[in-house]
Amino acid sequence: MGQAYAVTAEFYDLLQAAEQLAVSGRLLDRWLGSPEVGVLDVGAGTGLAVSLLARRCAVPVHAVEPAASMRAVLLSRIAGQSEVLPRVRVHARNVQDLGLVGVADFAWCLNTMAGLDVSDRAAALRALATALVPGGRLVVQRPPAHAADGRRDLPSWQLGGDLYSGEVVTTPVGADRVRWRFSYRVSREGALVREETEVFDGHLATESGFDAELAAAGFTVVGADDPDIVIARR
Ligand SMILES: C[S@@+](CC[C@H](N)C(=O)[O-])C[C@H]1O[C@@H](n2cnc3c(N)ncnc32)[C@H](O)[C@@H]1O
Repeated sequence: MGQAYAVTAEFYDLLQAAEQLAVSGRLLDRWLGSPEVGVLDVGAGTGLAVSLLARRCAVPVHAVEPAASMRAVLLSRIAGQSEVLPRVRVHARNVQDLGLVGVADFAWCLNTMAGLDVSDRAAALRALATALVPGGRLVVQRPPAHAADGRRDLPSWQLGGDLYSGEVVTTPVGADRVRWRFSYRVSREGALVREETEVFDGHLATESGFDAELAAAGFTVVGADDPDIVIARR
């Protein structure tokens, strides 16, 4: 994972947090329940959900995040929050190498599975199953089933008279892969001040294929939600 997210970490919250928080809040209202053992956030990123989870639950929160740039934002987010810090443990590694057993009865993994190929997904789902106690709930976003050529604007924000904006360009790569090119721009009085780009490779999976991967790891699918969310029981 070395330098992955090195560019994106600077812009992620500014451009994407509002959308992510709205989706996460709605999903947690519906699916979190009342964890009694612990909660796990896999691909915790900048800690948007870690913060929500820590405020909504009284149990330990395990945040799994391999990218140093994203962890830096996560740690800044919770720094100084004395009521939260004792319960958040950050695991600076890939979920495939998590190595935790029975530490949680709720696991959360959004916007992350698409970055893993089929064998890493299998290892990730096995690690998640091992980390959950029997009966534990997993809320996971599927990899996309299709990738169509396209371009989408990210939300933009004014900061001190500068406009921060971004776009993502999606390009299919062969039958089962996709490439996302994120461009981030800072403009002043209509002129570009700087532009940064980061490219991510993703992997597609059919709904039935991903359900079968969940089953192979010991999960039973029990529900679904938007966007592309699967609820599974360990
Ligand atoms: C697109 S971000 C999403 C962050 C957060 N879940 C959200 O929805 O805002 C994906 C995150 O997954 C992390 N990630 C990538 N591969 C991972 C792996 N194998 N195990 C755990 N996290 C991983 C990345 O470093 C990144 O922070």
